[in-house]
Amino acid sequence: MNEQKMPALKIGVLASGRGSNFQAILDAIGKGKLHAEIAVLITDNPSAFAIERARKHHIEYLVVHPADYASREEYFRNVAEELRTRNAGLIVLAGFMRIVGKALIDAFPNRIMNIHPALLPSFPGLHGQKQALEYGVRISGCTVHFVDEGMDTGPIIIQAAVPVVQEDTEDTLSARILELEHKIYPEAIRLFAEGRIDVHGRTVQIKDYPNIQSFFTNPPLDI
Ligand code: GRF
Repeated sequence: MNEQKMPALKIGVLASGRGSNFQAILDAIGKGKLHAEIAVLITDNPSAFAIERARKHHIEYLVVHPADYASREEYFRNVAEELRTRNAGLIVLAGFMRIVGKALIDAFPNRIMNIHPALLPSFPGLHGQKQALEYGVRISGCTVHFVDEGMDTGPIIIQAAVPVVQEDTEDTLSARILELEHKIYPEAIRLFAEGRIDVHGRTVQIKDYPNIQSFFTNPPLDI
């Protein structure tokens, strides 16, 4: 079927902060690179800058406060219900600072993606860039993966690598990684929207897998 004739994938975005990955997804949709629409933004933070981005694009947003629910499970059951009501086909975590509850994972199996600023399974959890710097790796990057109940442990969809240079600070490394985050997140969503992702256990198979472009070493080879 012609891709453009398929109904647009409806995406529910969960974000807690500035939302630059959310913006990258909006931009990919705006440029016609991603056949999708944002059904709703859900945030746990009323001052998240992501809300401004939603407003600007006339996207519905909901502030859903964990404190208003009796338990974590109750909270995520409600989030799942809001997403289901809007017929979301994919849930995208874009800087959502909570571990997703089982109620939401069970409602959208292999339909929740997250982006992490390190090459998983290295450096999961908070401050992946700082962890990489302190460990002394020469190459780091970012990972888009499906979400399971663990902390950044779900099946990996796409990764991008960047060099870590000796002058790096957490800020410079984070900026270098973020630039790639904004490229690989829309790409992972595009693969999903085109029905090209199959999950087998913890391995992801991508249909019509493109050729690998290159490799690099850090420091560069001089022999
Ligand atoms: C990104 O570094 C992402 O990898 C991590 O949280 C940060 C969110 O940034 N999960 P933004 O809100 O998308 O700008």
